[in-house]
Amino acid sequence: SKEGYAHFMIKEIHESPKAVRDTISSLMSDLDVVEKISEEIRQAERVIVTGAGTSYHAGLYFSLLLTREGITSIPLIASEYYNVKGKRGDLIIAISQSGETIDVLQSIRKLKSEGAKVVSITNVIESAIARESDYKIYMRAGPEIGVAATKTFTTQVASLLFLYSYAFGKDWKALKDADKEVEQAINATEGFAKRVGEELAKKQNIYYLGRGLSLPLAMEGALKIKEVSYVHAEAYPAGESKHGPISLVESGFPIVFINDGEMPELLKNNVMEMKARGGKIYMISVNRKLGEAELEIFLNSKFPALSISPVIQLIAYYAAVSKGLDPDKPRNLAKTVTVE
Ligand code: M6R
Repeated sequence: SKEGYAHFMIKEIHESPKAVRDTISSLMSDLDVVEKISEEIRQAERVIVTGAGTSYHAGLYFSLLLTREGITSIPLIASEYYNVKGKRGDLIIAISQSGETIDVLQSIRKLKSEGAKVVSITNVIESAIARESDYKIYMRAGPEIGVAATKTFTTQVASLLFLYSYAFGKDWKALKDADKEVEQAINATEGFAKRVGEELAKKQNIYYLGRGLSLPLAMEGALKIKEVSYVHAEAYPAGESKHGPISLVESGFPIVFINDGEMPELLKNNVMEMKARGGKIYMISVNRKLGEAELEIFLNSKFPALSISPVIQLIAYYAAVSKGLDPDKPRNLAKTVTVE
């Protein structure tokens, strides 16, 4: 039941802190598996990270973390599996909330038959994808009813951050407080997200821009608002926006910047370029304020991605609701996609 919430989507966003807490404590009690997977990641010749939709965005985030460590990693949109030839020495990380997405299954089947080993991260025990994997990690997000992935995305990012931190000698123990960062972000954001969502709902097109680890979050923000509010949104690496996309920007064109605090100076150049054309700037900032925006939310966080995730989801939710749409059942979409 919705337990007093108007929609499952908003209920499930509010369940994110618990989902993250349960997932991190489950990983901490299963360090044997984490250790084995970490070793596989460090020894692999290539790490191919596959998933669809939201899960692909979590995968891209992880793949960027790996390439920053010097690991050869390929982020693979699952349905495009035929573009990669697998080989021994490859490790596949397959990410899927349902564990049943046919595109993800096909990608792991192909690459496995060519010699790769498979790690799966799913939210459903003994799901089809889990059954076909050599190593399984389960998210403990609980059931997700809304078609839009919300708490499961935040939980995927948390699991992947844990795996990354463990594998590369970072402070993985700090993730035991990750749920608090998520909770604080949700509490601090409701008002901002409602205003931004209502404004964006009136637009035809939106850009979501970010650099580095913010790019997958920009992509996820664009997917989420498109999916539930039917406003066309596109994400770009912020620096890439001047190589074409900026030609659309005129007075009032909305641009959501994701500023995770890593490269605020570089990002600011892109903000100024957009402003100079009349773009209307909305800013989600973590750890470093950027200014220059029509509206900016500022959060402090040890885990920027985990704080930004509920913000982009709340914006999408309020955009849908302000148009009178039911965000739990967007048209043309199914929760689990079982056709190729
Ligand atoms: O169950 P999965 O994680 O494999 O599903 C993948 C996508 O179909 C899914 O994330 C989809 O993009 C969501 N509706 C996004 O909110």
